[in-house]
Amino acid sequence: PVQTPLAGKTIVITAGPTREKIDPVRFLTNHSTGKMGYAIAAEARRLGAKVCLVSGPVTLTPPAGVETTNVESAEDMYQAVVEKFNDADVVIKTAAVADYRPKKTYDSKMKKQEGGQSLELERTKDILFELGQKKKHQLLIGFAAETDQVEEYARKKLIKKNADMIVANNVKQEGAGFGTDTNIVTIFKKDGSQVNLPLMTKTEVATYLLNEVANQLKKEELK
Ligand code: PMT
Repeated sequence: PVQTPLAGKTIVITAGPTREKIDPVRFLTNHSTGKMGYAIAAEARRLGAKVCLVSGPVTLTPPAGVETTNVESAEDMYQAVVEKFNDADVVIKTAAVADYRPKKTYDSKMKKQEGGQSLELERTKDILFELGQKKKHQLLIGFAAETDQVEEYARKKLIKKNADMIVANNVKQEGAGFGTDTNIVTIFKKDGSQVNLPLMTKTEVATYLLNEVANQLKKEELK
């Protein structure tokens, strides 16, 4: 039988890195390839959800049957996600969004000069935080990419961002984080509980996470 525990649900998933423009030839970015987010999008579709994927620049092909919006900067991603937020039942923020962008962007290539150069940065919007403020019925799930004190930082993010779950990965761990086909995650939930998952493929992580999501949605419906 076809498994459709997410039938009738709309899920917005963000994936990939953002690019923050410096000039026409340069930008700031990070190592996200979109693999984690695209795996969640494909699984969510397979489990029957209507899936809106908001993707930063990656080389992956969007999964079949998924509505994809391509964005570049953190600001673009914010606009695209907010536009879809009211109709969403679940938002999963896998994207590695820039926390800073160049304060000034140049329309012409910056020319080399003698000596050093510094770049002034300003904060981007924290999309997850903003969604946490706007949240009504939506289930809000963030990721946390950490290199140290994973549990402490993940629990802080859960509270500060008003999220229902935070999926933490230690990106220094072999087989976890950026670029790999596998991940090692711990899911922190609002009720204080946590699930430590072993090394799994990103598809297996997606299946596990979406099962948690389906259970949580069912609980909310019974309330
Ligand atoms: O794409 P892959 O190569 O498969 O790699 C997967 C991954 C490592 C990118 C993924 O597993 C992951 O950890 N994603 C979150 C990366 C991240 O930006 O973590 P963070 O701890 O900096 O941010 C916490 C949360 O806030 C994230 O849900 C992020 O989407 C969100 N955020 C961050 C900054 C910002 N300005 N706006 C946000 O919404």
